[in-house]
Amino acid sequence: MIYLDNSATTYPKPQIVRNAVSRSLGLSANPGRSGHSLSLRASEEIFKARKTAAEFFGAESEENVCFTLNCTSAMNIVLKGILKSGDHVVVSEMEHNAVMRPIEKMKASGITCTAAKVYPFDDDKTIASFREAINAKTRMIVCTQASNVWGIRVPVERLSALAHEYGLLMAVDAAQSAGLIPIDLKKSRIDYLCVAGHKGLYGPMGTGILIVNCPEVPDTLIEGGTGSNSVSFLQPAELPDKLESGTPNLYGIAGLRAGIEFVRRNKPENIAEHEFTLIKRLYRELKKTEGIRLYLPEPEEGYFVPILSFNIEGADSETTAQRLNRYGIAVRAGLHCCPAAHRMMGSEETGTVRVSPSVFTRASDIDRLVSVLKQIMREDK
Ligand code: ALA
Repeated sequence: MIYLDNSATTYPKPQIVRNAVSRSLGLSANPGRSGHSLSLRASEEIFKARKTAAEFFGAESEENVCFTLNCTSAMNIVLKGILKSGDHVVVSEMEHNAVMRPIEKMKASGITCTAAKVYPFDDDKTIASFREAINAKTRMIVCTQASNVWGIRVPVERLSALAHEYGLLMAVDAAQSAGLIPIDLKKSRIDYLCVAGHKGLYGPMGTGILIVNCPEVPDTLIEGGTGSNSVSFLQPAELPDKLESGTPNLYGIAGLRAGIEFVRRNKPENIAEHEFTLIKRLYRELKKTEGIRLYLPEPEEGYFVPILSFNIEGADSETTAQRLNRYGIAVRAGLHCCPAAHRMMGSEETGTVRVSPSVFTRASDIDRLVSVLKQIMREDK
């Protein structure tokens, strides 16, 4: 199979990730709960993963790194754990449902929201539109670092500076950017970084990270056993325990640590460069092909991450994806859980066919995709 659906989850996983998951199965004791040696080894594994993540993202300390189920759960913790009735939040116009659905639900409890326009290739204009969306009740800016549909990047470091200028909090959805764009929390002043473990960090599904990079710790969405201060019915106030109740996903977290090591060794900027070469190759080929609709100019590093959405003119995106699948090519079509981004570009009726490569994708995979697309279009004539 030619797998080009890495924005949904990266596949294959690096061998070191598979080895780490497999090795951790041998540590099947509950971390932080017991004093026996197997439990201590499991705790050590989790601690090492926390340390690796803290170093990778420049977190102030391991304790600021909380493991979650995925990026969606991290985002829910931030939104529901910080915002209170009467608060206003500014988001970008291309947020994923991981942001839009919690906010929509929270509108019933008095939260209001404004979606700021994003201008591809013009960061100054994007910043100005966020500035305009801020009002006296604004408490937080929540923004994706890169669109999962279009690959469009938002200058979140500049947005963080804007947020702090107005005394606001800044939360970033790095689901599509972590592992491709270097993120250093020591420099960027992002308050809450939400990350998926199973995409650009090459970890297992069911893993995510929330890094709390400011004194304002979100309230809990769930409470329970943490292995610490068990005498008290009160949830511990300290991180990471406050936000990590219940037995953790040791196997996933061990795999995630290996995934981060893999990315660190290969360097995010080198992975991005490799994937950009492929996406540009695809873009240029599709540009020359009559009957293909491309929605944006050629993606440029600095303004995009390597993701490309397109359509065969007049064809439903899901149908195109199914036809590609028959030729052994895996892509994601439809709305990608992100109707907002499709609305922005007028593709909400058809959805798009999305191609997202990984470090393992080869130029020959892209060439095969192009030739199969041409074949499909010939069949329709
Ligand atoms: N959010 C993921 C995607 O874009 C699953 O496909």
